[in-house]
Amino acid sequence: MSLEGYKNRCLHRVNAMLQTVLPRQNPVNTTVIAAMRYSVLNGGKRIRPLLSYAACEAVGGHLENADPAACAVELIHAYSLVHDDLPAMDDDDLRRGKPTCHKAYNEAIATLAGDALQTLAFELLSSPELLAETRLSASQRLLLIEVLAQASGHAGMVGGQAMDLESTGLALRQDQLVTMHNHKTGALIRAAIKMGALSHADVAPWQLAKLDQYASAIGLAFQVQDDILDVTADTQILGKRQGADQALDKPTYVSIMGLKQARSYAQTLCQRAITAITEFDNAARPLRQLAEYIVQRTH
Ligand code: IPE
Ligand code: IPE
Ligand code: MG
Ligand code: MG
Ligand code: MG
Repeated sequence: MSLEGYKNRCLHRVNAMLQTVLPRQNPVNTTVIAAMRYSVLNGGKRIRPLLSYAACEAVGGHLENADPAACAVELIHAYSLVHDDLPAMDDDDLRRGKPTCHKAYNEAIATLAGDALQTLAFELLSSPELLAETRLSASQRLLLIEVLAQASGHAGMVGGQAMDLESTGLALRQDQLVTMHNHKTGALIRAAIKMGALSHADVAPWQLAKLDQYASAIGLAFQVQDDILDVTADTQILGKRQGADQALDKPTYVSIMGLKQARSYAQTLCQRAITAITEFDNAARPLRQLAEYIVQRTH
C-alpha cells in the first residue's frame, strides 16, 4: 500500500476514535469541552498516531490494538500545542490554519482545555469503557500509562519546553540543542512508537530496542524539519506563522548550523532510523515510509 493509502486508513481510524472519546457534553461546563474539541478536531497531520499504528503493525499487531495509544498520544500532543501557543509561551495566533485556542476562546479556557486534554489521555488508557473494543490487558494499560507519563512530564516534553523557553536569545551549543529537541519533541514521538509496539502483547525485547533507536532518530529529525519549515515554508501552507522562531529569537537547527547543514542532518537522521529497523520484515514498510515523509514534509 502507498503511504498515502496507509495514512488515510489510519487517519480515518484515529479521527473517528477521537470523535468518540472527546466529550460532547458534560453537566458542568460546555465552553471547556468545546475548546477541547476545537483543539483536537481541527486538522493536524496525526504523525504520532500514525507512528503508533505503524509500530504496532511492525511487531505483528493489528491496527485496532493501537487505538488507545494513538488517541492518547494525540491528546497529549494537542494539549501541548494549546499551551505552547499561549502568550506566556510562544504567543502564536494561528495553529493548523485557524485561530489558536486562546484566540478562539480565551487564555483561561485554553489553559483548562489543555489540562483536560491531558487528563483525558490517561483516562482513556486506564478505562476499558472508553474504546471498548480494544482488548488490552490491565498490565498493558498500566505500562502504556507509565510510558506516556514519563515522556510527557518533567523529564520529557515539559522539561524540554521549559528548556526551550529559557533558551530564548541564547546561542546554544549543538549538544544542548539536541537535548532540548529530544525532550520537547522527541520524547513524545518515542513514546508514540513504544506504546504502539507495547499494544501488541507479544512484542519481543529486541524489537522494542530497535524501534527505540528508530524513534530517537526520527523524533529528532521531526523537530529539525519543523525548524527548517519555520524558515522555508509559508504561513498558508504551514497553517502556523512562518518565521515565528526567528521573531522570538529561539535557537534552532537553522540558526545554529544553517539551512543546508540542517537539511543534510535531517537526511542523516532519517537514514539512521531506517537502518535501525533493517531486521524487521515487510510489516515495517509504513514505518520506513514515515521516516522519509517526516523529513520531506512541507508542513
Ligand atoms: C508541531 O507538531 C509541534 C512540534 C512538536 C514540532 P506537528 O507538526 O505534528 O503538528 P500538527 O499536529 O500536524 O498540527
Ligand atoms: C513545540 O515546538 C513543541 C511542543 C509543543 C511540545 P514548537 O514551538 O517549535 O512548535 P510549533 O512550531 O509552535 O508548532
Ligand atoms: Mg514552542
Ligand atoms: Mg511554538
Ligand atoms: Mg516550531
